[in-house]
Amino acid sequence: MWKLQENILEKSDKDKLSDFIASTDRFTQFNMVKLFEKEWSKWQGCKYSVFVNSGSSADLLMLDAVKEHHALPDNCEVLVPAVTWTTNVTSVIQAKMKPVFVDINLDDLAFDYAGLEKAVTPETKIILITHLLGLPANMAKVKAIAEKRGLIVLEDCCESHGARAEGRKVGNHGAASTFSFYWGHHMTTIEGGMLCTDSEELNDLFLLKRSHGLARELDPSKHDFYRKKYPEVSFDFLFLTHGYNFRNTELHATIGIEQLKHLDRYIGIRNGNHRKYSEIISPLGDKVYRFAAEGISSFCLPFIFRDRKDMELLRGKCREAQIETRPIVGANLLRQPCFRAYGDYRDFHNAEILHLNGFYIGNNQFVDDERLNKLKEVIKDSFEAGVR
Ligand SMILES: Cc1ncc(COP(=O)(O)O)c(C=O)c1O
Repeated sequence: MWKLQENILEKSDKDKLSDFIASTDRFTQFNMVKLFEKEWSKWQGCKYSVFVNSGSSADLLMLDAVKEHHALPDNCEVLVPAVTWTTNVTSVIQAKMKPVFVDINLDDLAFDYAGLEKAVTPETKIILITHLLGLPANMAKVKAIAEKRGLIVLEDCCESHGARAEGRKVGNHGAASTFSFYWGHHMTTIEGGMLCTDSEELNDLFLLKRSHGLARELDPSKHDFYRKKYPEVSFDFLFLTHGYNFRNTELHATIGIEQLKHLDRYIGIRNGNHRKYSEIISPLGDKVYRFAAEGISSFCLPFIFRDRKDMELLRGKCREAQIETRPIVGANLLRQPCFRAYGDYRDFHNAEILHLNGFYIGNNQFVDDERLNKLKEVIKDSFEAGVR
């Protein structure tokens, strides 16, 4: 069985976790979380990282903090792609802003860049980019629009750890970014997410909001300032802003520190598999869409056909061959019951093609030549068997 993801934790990760449990009585957010954040910042190349309990929490915290920091009005507009993960968009709604959906392109699966510029109104404040399936969005185009129209750029990198745009890692191109460490992603903390930024003010808001809004979450060098500013409230329970509890634990941070040591190797294997998959699908010619692979950090192996019958044929054959498949993320989100009020799905032409004619299979460090040869056979069997 070729599953989407398998047990990604290595023996050394499990050993470190058991050693850690045996060595401590402190399991809630503490030094291991700080260490993981420091190591992640080093790997990512950013100033500040804040570890939370999921990528979805990271998205909501990022939008809430950016809105507060820039004093953005309720109902201001945030441009989001028609294809991304649902909680990326629900975060916009939960932060009391309005998602405005823009169609995707079928080259890097991010925004249709011409449509992105057209969607900007005087109410637009943020472009929330998703680097989908490990494909880096065209940040030069996004930044040109953002600069021209005075918009804040935020990056969801939950599926694209280590991908590069313009030679730099994604997640370092806007005001802030998010990552997911859920099981099926490039590395895991089982559940978990990270926020990254170079802005001290945003980092402070991330720290506060992650943990109820508590002042003591800030760097100790800032404590005296707030002690003096609010002498009538105990510093132990001084709440500077509205917050959540999105903290993660020392256990998950311990796993994260170990997994991070494997991350470049995992990405190397994923990208090697992706190169072989590109060769395998090449006989399909223009039956399938091809994606710009430069700077990729492959999340999965996607298929988007021009014809739905071809998609159904190959997806069926994959199932018969015990290769697990999934629709491409939330596919056309305007078709999802929870987003129907935000537009007519038929207006999102490329998202519709992806929705109707696309699926993906897993890519990870367990995908090897044996599996890829099997995929080659399945494709040959599907399209040379005279079914169409
Ligand atoms: C693009 C994108 N954003 C956000 C998330 C949410 O991450 P999590 O599952 O850790 O909540 C995901 C999850 O897969 C995702 O793919």
